[in-house]
Amino acid sequence: MKNGLYSAGIIGTGSYVPEKIITNEDLEKIVETSSEWIVTRTGIRERRIAGENEATSNLSTIAALRALDDADMDPKDLDMILVATVTPDMPFPSTACIVQSNIGAVNAAASDIEAACSGFLYALNVAQQFIATGFYKNILVIGGECLSRITNYKDRGTCILFGDGAGAAVVSRVEDGYGFLAQYMGADGSNGNSLAVKAGGSRMPASAATLLHDYHYIHMDGGEVFKFAVKIMSSAAEKAMDIAGITKDDIDCVVPHQANIRIINNVAKRLGVSEDKVYSNLDRYGNLSAASIPVALDEAVKSGRISKGDNVCMVGFGGGLTWASNIIKWSKDSNAIKKAI
Ligand code: UT7
Repeated sequence: MKNGLYSAGIIGTGSYVPEKIITNEDLEKIVETSSEWIVTRTGIRERRIAGENEATSNLSTIAALRALDDADMDPKDLDMILVATVTPDMPFPSTACIVQSNIGAVNAAASDIEAACSGFLYALNVAQQFIATGFYKNILVIGGECLSRITNYKDRGTCILFGDGAGAAVVSRVEDGYGFLAQYMGADGSNGNSLAVKAGGSRMPASAATLLHDYHYIHMDGGEVFKFAVKIMSSAAEKAMDIAGITKDDIDCVVPHQANIRIINNVAKRLGVSEDKVYSNLDRYGNLSAASIPVALDEAVKSGRISKGDNVCMVGFGGGLTWASNIIKWSKDSNAIKKAI
């Protein structure tokens, strides 16, 4: 405990992506594009698509159970479940309540959080506050998306980018000196129109006209979002490092939002962090919005790219517009666990 606050950290991670793969070559058959263009301009080679009977809660439930298993925690010990998503199963009940029921977390409060692609980091940062004050002991944070459901497969500017998946993390008390060293969040609602789903809410309820105009799909000014992303991701990561009192040289692994490999490489360059310290799985999954960071985090941990004592920087941006970052001194000895197995 420091200054009357508990140290909070991540004690388990899990992820799940659906089985069905859509390759760039598959997309060549439905829109005017080429695999070469997609790989060069985005770094994406394939993405996963949820099956007919799968919704965000299904993907999130599997990721959640894997994270709980990794944390060696009974669902009944959870105090709260937060799901970050822009593709909930339905407006309400929340996807978090559906997951709560699926996993039998009968003692947990449950709610969704929406900050588009920054959503998982927003939810993680909210969870950290509850743990630090001692109000709650164990919180399950999930980023889950079925972006295929709001993607227009006639629009080559967006359909090549997005996929489906879910990632989860269990946030709990950790030993002092470890866990969250810094967190930072921001928003600029004045530029929200550059990345939006216009219909389906109270402003423009779903109707024949909204369907006709494709207003229930993602609309994006790609160039604007690209410029914003490079600038805000690097400044948000720097801000978190300042708050933590560390420099780029102290960072062991950056887990960025996976939107475009050119954005990720530009951010690494601006930060002065070598590309091998930056985790990317964009080639396999595309952009998973709120699920992108937790899926990448889980893979980075499980593949040994993150181990105890490492300073991990997560940073993201998204619709809203929003951005968020944090620095976590990793508290779990994943290598020791692997050796024991
Ligand atoms: O989580 C946040 C969500 N969004 C993002 O992170 C997206 C950020 N933006 C991007 O990743 C990039 O802006 C895109 C990948 C969306 C687009 O790449 P770009 O290098 O900015 O391309 P552009 O939009 O400037 O378009 C260049 C050309 C255009 O043709 P003309 O006008 O030069 O003849 C486009 O029509 O490429 C064309 N184009 C395509 N060509 C083949 C756009 N999409 C495609 C495509 N295949 N899929």
